[in-house]
Amino acid sequence: MKPKLRNANITAVGKYLPKNILTNADLEKMVDTNDEWIRTRTGIQERRIVDKGEASVEMSVNAIQQILDSRNLDPTEIDAIIVGTVTPDMLFPSCAALIQHRIGATNAWGYDLSAACSGFIFALQSGSALIESGQCEKVLIVGVDTMSSILDYEDRNTCILFGDGAGAVLLEPSEEYGVIDAIMRVDGGGGDYLKMPAGGSLHRASHETVDKKMHYIQQDGRTVYKFAVKGMADISYEVASRNNLTNDDIDLFIPHQANKRIIDAAAKRLGLPDEKVLINISKYANTTAGTIPIGIVEAVETKRLKKGDNLILASFGAGFTWGATYIKWGMDS
Ligand code: COA
Repeated sequence: MKPKLRNANITAVGKYLPKNILTNADLEKMVDTNDEWIRTRTGIQERRIVDKGEASVEMSVNAIQQILDSRNLDPTEIDAIIVGTVTPDMLFPSCAALIQHRIGATNAWGYDLSAACSGFIFALQSGSALIESGQCEKVLIVGVDTMSSILDYEDRNTCILFGDGAGAVLLEPSEEYGVIDAIMRVDGGGGDYLKMPAGGSLHRASHETVDKKMHYIQQDGRTVYKFAVKGMADISYEVASRNNLTNDDIDLFIPHQANKRIIDAAAKRLGLPDEKVLINISKYANTTAGTIPIGIVEAVETKRLKKGDNLILASFGAGFTWGATYIKWGMDS
């Protein structure tokens, strides 16, 4: 690895969860499922769902507003906005462009990044490169998904798993703190196991694609589970061991929240006790690109992170995409 000029440090955070709560009991009335099955198989108790008219840009702007307010930051100082999402308001213009306009970041450029559940850590990696190379001084990284917009609420295999939400962080340069290392992977060989087949250039929108429910998530849950358990555990271990971090050295692990059992397997591989693992899947379910930044904000709010802590982020998602990031935490608590 080439030595970096400087690190990308997280210096402010914000999140937004819609106010509407969809519980397991609510889902029992919609599909053939039950609270006990959902809780024991996934760890989920409830999830948040957007209001009509509310979507990914709106949620992102709300999350970013917390960052702007907490730092009294002038939006014209922002150099770039990178948005990890698979549920943009529309295919184009990008969420990044719409967010730029909404917040008045008149000096920013930006783009959306499609990596499903790994959207936030992939975006963090891209944004870090902009800071590390000296191209940018202030970069907003957003992870957001409006999963309710692509779920079939007649399919019990998928509709119980996901929710809506957004999280955002501000990256600025630091000599000492910030993203130290990351390992990212893709393997399109897993593409068929988790996808939304229509809506792109291959299967054009038609009555047929709608009738066949091709604009909804389709998943082979058992196969995804198998790959996710191994993928997230292995890559978390790889980034920790290549930075000589033992379980004692790791202060907090914030994994993607897809299934409590996938999280437990990764935590076990790292040898971490429960108190070093952030788990909030019971409240929000899988918000796809939203889970990790929402987790980071909760860790800050509950003072589970202090300056100098060793933080590991990890994810696995559709693509397949997966990765893990090692951060020397640099925000004052
Ligand atoms: N309620 C009740 N029963 C359900 C159900 C639901 N919501 N969904 C599936 N079932 C049934 C299945 O039909 C199956 O019945 P069968 O044995 O009669 O065929 C049974 O429960 C077991 O299903 P299975 O798929 O083996 O369960 P599982 O333990 O693998 O758990 C998931 C299913 C989806 C929770 C799990 O596979 C998973 O989390 N996969 C990863 C998904 C994911 O996180 N994707 C996002 C990106 S990483």
